[in-house]
Amino acid sequence: MNGDSSQGAPAWPPVATNGPRRFRARVVVVGNEKGGAGKSTLAALIAVSMMYRGQRVAVMDLDLRQQSLSRFFTNRRRWLPAAKMEAPMPREYKLVENPATIVDNQPLACRLFDQALALAMGEADLVVIDTPGGDNAVNRAAHLQADLVVTPMNDSFVDFDVIGNVDPLTLQLIRPSHYAENILRARAMRAQHSRTLDWVVLRNRLAGADTHNRERLGHALEQLSREVGFRIGPSMRERVVYREMFPFGLTLADVSSRLRPDNVTSPKLAARAEVNDLLEALGLIVLNRVDADARPRPAKALEYASTL
Ligand SMILES: Nc1ncnc2c1ncn2[C@@H]1O[C@H](COP(=O)(O)OP(=O)(O)OP(=O)(O)O)[C@@H](O)[C@H]1O
Ligand SMILES: [Mg+2]
Repeated sequence: MNGDSSQGAPAWPPVATNGPRRFRARVVVVGNEKGGAGKSTLAALIAVSMMYRGQRVAVMDLDLRQQSLSRFFTNRRRWLPAAKMEAPMPREYKLVENPATIVDNQPLACRLFDQALALAMGEADLVVIDTPGGDNAVNRAAHLQADLVVTPMNDSFVDFDVIGNVDPLTLQLIRPSHYAENILRARAMRAQHSRTLDWVVLRNRLAGADTHNRERLGHALEQLSREVGFRIGPSMRERVVYREMFPFGLTLADVSSRLRPDNVTSPKLAARAEVNDLLEALGLIVLNRVDADARPRPAKALEYASTL
């Protein structure tokens, strides 16, 4: 029994054990209890990038109230035909037609999540799950099923505090935060079923100039990484290109010479290199090599710059 006995805390569901690993889709959960860290942005970027890499991608938006990832793909579904463009679409698995109606019924949300995930894992190579800020049962359920948790955080001690608490005077780590403890708990529970959980934390929205704050945060993050057991991924810079195409449901991975409204520019190529570094660090792609198990790209998929 995997239940969490701590009072008032959401319960932990059982670990999914259906099928040997080689037949299961890989599950990537983008999570951070902190709001506004870039979870939905990163989830969309990973999902679209991996579709261009020939992966069958399923997406799930567990931010039942906000539904940013779901909106992103709704925009994409509408914009592409209107612009007479074609681009790969993921299969989206919604818990119910109007997810906001089940936010307050977490047991139901968890049951529906389990069902949806089982379907997604049967049909996709990669399942990308966006999660809400905060802690609730369905969020825990998602983290428990994750082969990989990716945690973007803003480059600030306010965001750091959601991962590890530091002494205000010495900036030494006092203890891992509630969120870190949840992930460690999920990792331990998965280990009982011979499943691993790779956790990667990365700094998002890095500003151009280097600052003392960044250096201090870097040291603290390295210390926490050693003590808690996550990997530090390559950072993402603050870039307009990460946010400007949301209304069209497009990401940097879509940008090509054939796509409007955007053109390929050198800042975008730099950003794409940044994303490719990140995808490689996450273990999702191998740079400069043909993926051994890559499936053919979707017919008429938009051109993807293969130089990076
Ligand atoms: N690297 C970046 N450069 C520029 N803007 C970014 C970057 N990453 C995220 N943003 C912007 O920051 C805001 C928050 O991002 P996002 O909605 O992805 O965060 P979130 O963690 O999903 O938030 P929530 O917890 O509310 O779901 C959005 O306006 C997004 O466009
Ligand atoms: Mg979000």
